[in-house]
Amino acid sequence: MTAVPRFTHGSRVPGWDDAVDLDRPPAPVPDPATTPVPPGLRAEIEGYMAKYPDRRSAALPALRAAQREHGWCSPEAIDQVACVMRLTPGYVDALATFYDMLETEPRRHHHDVYVCTNISCSLLGADELYATIRAAAEGDDDVHVREFECLGACDIAPMASVDGTYVGPLEPADAERILEDLRGGGPVLPDKQILRRPVADPEANSRQYPRPEPRPESSEYARSAGPEIPGDAPGPPAPLHDERHPPEPGKRQGTTP
Ligand code: FES
Repeated sequence: MTAVPRFTHGSRVPGWDDAVDLDRPPAPVPDPATTPVPPGLRAEIEGYMAKYPDRRSAALPALRAAQREHGWCSPEAIDQVACVMRLTPGYVDALATFYDMLETEPRRHHHDVYVCTNISCSLLGADELYATIRAAAEGDDDVHVREFECLGACDIAPMASVDGTYVGPLEPADAERILEDLRGGGPVLPDKQILRRPVADPEANSRQYPRPEPRPESSEYARSAGPEIPGDAPGPPAPLHDERHPPEPGKRQGTTP
């Protein structure tokens, strides 16, 4: 049996790096008189709080707003969120350190490439894809490439999130294109963005995004996808009522008496 690699504390995952000082008194809810909060950020957080019966439900969008304001969830940002929401900094900090997309260290890069290496993507070559994208971004401090757990877009596996835009199915050859598009400042892999995929409803997104050009026949995707289907044939119309139980005259089906 193959030995599972473990950290010195015995677990397969790294765990927490910083020890907690249990003797220190917990930080109280910040005093609004001594905690200045930018007015725009305060208004945004209050707007989120107004949406939920329990104000704590607004903590994640509030942290995202603070991250946009400060560039990361700095101690100052945490205090400001805690102050507006009337929570302890410890409560807010626990959320910020739990969620991967909230940065608790200063960002030194502008672009995030999250490559999903979970099961669906992994079975379709995500590990090779991840290695290729990492190699392509080597030495570029502006691009941060990391592995990610399932990003919820298994239907376009193997996929990645590039600055929040989902692209897939990807091939290793797309690695260079991702980097070129990021450096050029244009949309990243427009023909592979999930946002631009034609969907069954022809009105859904075709107004913003015209149908992409067909992929070159030589691509791995074209070979695996088979011939392109020219268009969906219309299906039979949905029945307006159940023939076995026709509605009573003057009554609409599906309504309660
Ligand atoms: S496994 Fe990759 S998006 Fe789900």
